[in-house]
Amino acid sequence: MRHLMNPLDFSVEELDQLFRLARDMEADMPKYAHSCAGKKLATCFYEPSTRTRLSFESAMLNLGGSVLGFSDAGSSSASKGESVADTIRIISCYADICAMRHPKEGAPMVAASYSGVPVINAGDGGHQHPTQTLTDLMTIRSLKGRLSDLTIGLCGDLKFGRTVHSLINALVRYDNIRFLFISPEELRVPDYITEMLKEKGIPYEEVIRLEEILPRLDLLYMTRVQKERFFNEEDYVRLKDFYILDKAKMKLASEDMLVLHPLPRVNEISVDVDDDPRAVYFKQAQYGVYVRMALILTLLDWAGA
Ligand code: NCD
Repeated sequence: MRHLMNPLDFSVEELDQLFRLARDMEADMPKYAHSCAGKKLATCFYEPSTRTRLSFESAMLNLGGSVLGFSDAGSSSASKGESVADTIRIISCYADICAMRHPKEGAPMVAASYSGVPVINAGDGGHQHPTQTLTDLMTIRSLKGRLSDLTIGLCGDLKFGRTVHSLINALVRYDNIRFLFISPEELRVPDYITEMLKEKGIPYEEVIRLEEILPRLDLLYMTRVQKERFFNEEDYVRLKDFYILDKAKMKLASEDMLVLHPLPRVNEISVDVDDDPRAVYFKQAQYGVYVRMALILTLLDWAGA
């Protein structure tokens, strides 16, 4: 049984196939309107979410399937002390596939090892967020026309941002990628990531000021400071508005630099950037539906369901 815990669980060829399927779904939704008829998706969310959970549900509904689940741990038996292992055994009796978000790193992996149905990691603590990465890759592939030969700036909370960790992980498999990490000292990308980049010989730089590197970027991936992963409020307050991308800064960027953001946005992108054609974060959220449709259908096919 195949699950999705980490973007690397799929080969580059499998990802490519997935993106082609997602593009086809985008072009011809009615063709897939009954592809998952009679199938059920369980969304088990132990942590808040808007986009991820609703885009999973929307994806399954677009495929003609149905959805069930819970959107916070308090309304599930976790509040009575049930383990993830037991919960997933039960979910396996009720649904054909499960998307799980959990504050504990590795929890969806534990679930997968006890599950009778495919499990998709919908975000585990500060660790990974593979379906956001699929969304990001599809956005880049669709709007830039390639996933190689890119200079990518990642800006904001590079320490706790799981979308950042997942995306770097996935991008290193493509040719001629360069990273520019833009963060305050306290929110630098974890050492295990820079070690991995050094090992693979992938060029990266770490800088504090966004302005100085903006003109060099093909893509700017902005992120929110992850309030919920801070140990004290004071540090969060000091760092939360460290970066604010606004119209003036966008003038420094090239004509075809794209701005991505996994959302939710807090203050890190000023609303006056939203009308800039280079700001593609709302389009990105739309791609998230197609790519999740393709993922659900692919995993169900592989499971022979
Ligand atoms: C991200 C997450 O949950 O990690 N949101 C999302 O799924 N689009 C990013 C974030 O919360 O900052």
